[in-house]
Amino acid sequence: KFPELGKTPPMGWNSWNKYHCEGINETIIRKQADAMVSSGMKEAGYEYIVIDDCWQNGRDEDGRILADKSKFPSGIKALADYVHSKGLKFGLYSDAGTKTCAGRPGSRGYEFMDAKTYAEWGVDFLKYDWCHHGKQLAEPSYTTMSQALEKAGRPILFSLCEWGESEPWTWAQNVGHMWRTTGDIINCFDCVNNGWGFGVLSILDQQRNIRKFVRPGQWNDMDMLEVGNGVLTYEENKTHFSMWSMLASPLITGNDLSNMDEKTRAILTNKNIIALNQDPLGIAAIPWRDYGDFEVWFKPLHNGDYALAFMNRSKEPYSLSWDFTGLNVFDVDDPNGWKSYTFDHPFIMQDLWSNKIIGKTGDTVKRVLKPRETLVIRLIK
Ligand code: DGJ
Repeated sequence: KFPELGKTPPMGWNSWNKYHCEGINETIIRKQADAMVSSGMKEAGYEYIVIDDCWQNGRDEDGRILADKSKFPSGIKALADYVHSKGLKFGLYSDAGTKTCAGRPGSRGYEFMDAKTYAEWGVDFLKYDWCHHGKQLAEPSYTTMSQALEKAGRPILFSLCEWGESEPWTWAQNVGHMWRTTGDIINCFDCVNNGWGFGVLSILDQQRNIRKFVRPGQWNDMDMLEVGNGVLTYEENKTHFSMWSMLASPLITGNDLSNMDEKTRAILTNKNIIALNQDPLGIAAIPWRDYGDFEVWFKPLHNGDYALAFMNRSKEPYSLSWDFTGLNVFDVDDPNGWKSYTFDHPFIMQDLWSNKIIGKTGDTVKRVLKPRETLVIRLIK
């Protein structure tokens, strides 16, 4: 893999959650690139525009992958050029098996040729899926494409999408930059696997035992965001975004950027929350306290600051009264042994969603959290 890429969690947009297979075409992709710039998303740190499944529909007589001409008449190279002209980066999708999940040609047996084609087109990001893999094993399959990308020579960020089946966090550190940890997200806050995928809370809960594998360049991908896709409430959207940021997941938006309401835009571009996600220390938040419907997560930051998320999972309001005096956090997963973080230093407390200073450690934080609200505080040293 290219070690200079993905030092902080990748940020971008992907077509799947909103447009799925049939909805994509080059006009829509160009519009997303335009909107990423005009909405302030680029300025907030988003850079990749990624086309998911269904851009491809065949191979020529030499085996070279072909774009679907009816959807991408100008070709992929022209689209990549357009995205680059906006100061953004361009991503594509393929599959390690013989076909993609939507039945389009996969890269099995064509890895080196496909990687070369992507490099020629100016691709910067590859999401690599896991349908139709037959008897293939994940580690050698993903390693082959990783080597093919290296050989092609263009720095391409490699995003593994085998749904956590082979526990890529245990083997993919040098193969890719991020890996999915679960099956697909569905646009629902508290659904448990309904056969199609997992709701926001369910994906979060599946991170507890694997957060320790997260490091700069090695990200647990909690899947693309459903923020702004019309189902989650305002507080649910904020909680979704807060927790993906706290856990240092890639932030790949999945809504129509060209048609966002102001609340959605404000969530996705919140600089305080994004700064937690992009913190160079690259530590995924620790599930510190669990009171059932109310949880507290803790994320140490590079400059000695801490981030805390007070999450109300329930549909009822929650009366929070919290005092840090005398408390400390253990990171039992710290690579150098158990690590303890104290609150003895007099930190200043900043509410990152309201952007207000709310006191200093030693003061009690009193707040009624709305249903599904997450209060995110930065303790400033
Ligand atoms: C399964 C992946 O998990 C999704 O994110 C999406 O890429 C679809 N396949 C596309 O078919």
